[in-house]
Amino acid sequence: MSEFRIHVKASSEYDVVIGEGLTGRAGSLVREAVPKAEKILLVSETNVAKLFLEQVRSDLLKAGFLVTEYIFQAGEQSKNINTVSEMWGAMARAGFTRTDAVVSLGGGVTTDMAGFAAATFLRGIKVVHIATSLLAQVDAAIGGKTGIDLPEGKNQVGSFHQPAMVIEDTDCLRTLPEEKFTEGLGEVLKYAFIMDRDLYDLLEGYENKSGLQSDIETLTKIVRASVEDKVEVITEDEFDTGRRQTLNFGHTIGHVIERDSDFTKDHGVCVAKGMGIIADACLANGLTDKDTHDRIIDLITSYGLPAGDEITSEAAVSGAMNDKKKRGNTISIILVNRIGEAEIVKMTPDGFLEFLKRRDIT
Ligand SMILES: NC(=O)c1ccc[n+]([C@@H]2O[C@H](COP(=O)([O-])OP(=O)(O)OC[C@H]3O[C@@H](n4cnc5c(N)ncnc54)[C@H](O)[C@@H]3O)[C@@H](O)[C@H]2O)c1
Ligand SMILES: [Zn+2]
Repeated sequence: MSEFRIHVKASSEYDVVIGEGLTGRAGSLVREAVPKAEKILLVSETNVAKLFLEQVRSDLLKAGFLVTEYIFQAGEQSKNINTVSEMWGAMARAGFTRTDAVVSLGGGVTTDMAGFAAATFLRGIKVVHIATSLLAQVDAAIGGKTGIDLPEGKNQVGSFHQPAMVIEDTDCLRTLPEEKFTEGLGEVLKYAFIMDRDLYDLLEGYENKSGLQSDIETLTKIVRASVEDKVEVITEDEFDTGRRQTLNFGHTIGHVIERDSDFTKDHGVCVAKGMGIIADACLANGLTDKDTHDRIIDLITSYGLPAGDEITSEAAVSGAMNDKKKRGNTISIILVNRIGEAEIVKMTPDGFLEFLKRRDIT
């Protein structure tokens, strides 16, 4: 059984451990990450708990932890303050102290919320993420962004709180619903486009694209490369004031499409559309060559994702200007000029509109 470790040197240091069958070794890994903890709040949700909770719980008990479980209803709708409040209550009732810890077991909804509960309980206790979805493994569980949604918008409340370890068992990806797997691939493609030519070559040259989910060996390579990419970026810019913004490639327009659908469209699918639209605009504005453009569009569609959307340029710009990520009256747009190289460009709303509208002319 191979296991890879990627060391993160952020404001606190930790390992991301990637391999097959790691949930069966959760006890010893969590013990290594939080040696002083006696009590663990094991947070999971209804879908994931059915599949992996018993294995993780029994291994934590074997490692000598006192385990309190907290299971919530799976889905983004649960990502709110009430669920976090129940986690705080469970820890308070069980007499948690500052050396005790939270272990999350699930996708990005679980890691975001359990991370936030840990960041805030007793002003901050440790959290270990056991990430089970592709999106959580390549993105959400890494980098320390935690939070919840408000009725007014997604991820409106949160904090930076780096985990003590991230455990990524690639076997877990076998049970992921196909559309959730494909959605996670949207973020993987993003790393290939913005910074990782080798990952692009691996994905592009892979023969059996529709069968990737069952090829754990290749998936492990892909997860590892994606994690290395995200770690490189967040190590350089932990608090999202510079290079971390390149991770938003496709996201500015993607978020508008996602919101317009009342979040019925998957995030990764909307990001794929956003990346395609920006690639089209880059070509129309002479900022990229046809070969790079075609490579971006072809890779997105060859993995079963859409590389465009009906949204008008006007709707994309006005939606983007309402997004929380805009700074002042300009907006940072991530462009890919060549595969593996991203650029952050500040545009005014008018400039962004002109940039997008040129697609209609060419
Ligand atoms: N903190 C960050 O930096 C960051 C980055 C990206 C996304 N996010 C957040 O992550 C969330 C999306 O993550 P997600 O797509 O993992 O959502 P999710 O946690 O809802 O998981 C997606 C679905 O897959 C199921 N699932 C998860 N693992 C499974 C497995 N191994 N087998 C079978 N089913 C499984 C879940 O029950 C759920 O139905 C959003 O809330 C988003 O805001 C955070
Ligand atoms: Zn994303």
